[in-house]
Amino acid sequence: MKRRPEPELMEGAEQALAYAQADFSEANGLFIDLLKRLDPGPLRGARALDLGCGPADIVIRFLRTYPQAQCDALDGSAAMLEHARFALEPLPSIATRCRLLCESLPWAELPRAHYDLLLSNSLLHHLHDPQVLWRTLREAAKPGALVLVMDLMRPASAAWAEALVATYAADAPEVLRNDFRNSLFAAFEPKEVVEQLREAGLAELEIGVVSDRHLAISGRLP
Ligand SMILES: C[S@@+](CC[C@H](N)C(=O)[O-])C[C@H]1O[C@@H](n2cnc3c(N)ncnc32)[C@H](O)[C@@H]1O
Repeated sequence: MKRRPEPELMEGAEQALAYAQADFSEANGLFIDLLKRLDPGPLRGARALDLGCGPADIVIRFLRTYPQAQCDALDGSAAMLEHARFALEPLPSIATRCRLLCESLPWAELPRAHYDLLLSNSLLHHLHDPQVLWRTLREAAKPGALVLVMDLMRPASAAWAEALVATYAADAPEVLRNDFRNSLFAAFEPKEVVEQLREAGLAELEIGVVSDRHLAISGRLP
């Protein structure tokens, strides 16, 4: 099935609210499990960057799991970051270790060779040019940094996409069902990501299919 890109930023108030209120505990829990399987150690004093953090559910799970780490959480949508701020407010021990950055890729001014850990969930499929993610990640990472990127993968047919929407978003509001459908059409196939990594000079990272709709890219940079 041919890729159909969707708008990059999730800027609409209704869209951001529906996303922030949705239950992504299965996928977001999987993300943290995959990170643990990479055996990052205690991440004492580690600086992480979450690209396309949205309402910060993964950032919060990450900082709760690794109480000695800090995280910069970047998103180009002010509406999404408002929900992130709201989620962090009642969690002072986590909020003090998190900096929200309202910036869009590829224009964000991030420090170079600065981060020990590069995280991103569900950003890749939003990008019209996927190299924007891989370039940003390479430039911002310290040598030897750990990378974990998870995203949807594009199903083989429209009927398969519909089946995934029916399975995982049957009771979701219409705006969220549409977002999920559009995201499945905009997502990449594993072989396309292999090619992206080769082009970006990141061929040492591994790609795995980690659920019926997700792929993950992980590993250490040289
Ligand atoms: C599907 S959400 C994922 C949010 C979060 N990572 C999660 O897993 O719940 C994708 C997020 O990426 C952001 N985004 C998309 N394109 C972006 C860009 N070029 N620069 C910065 N953020 C971007 C959107 O605004 C949105 O909040």
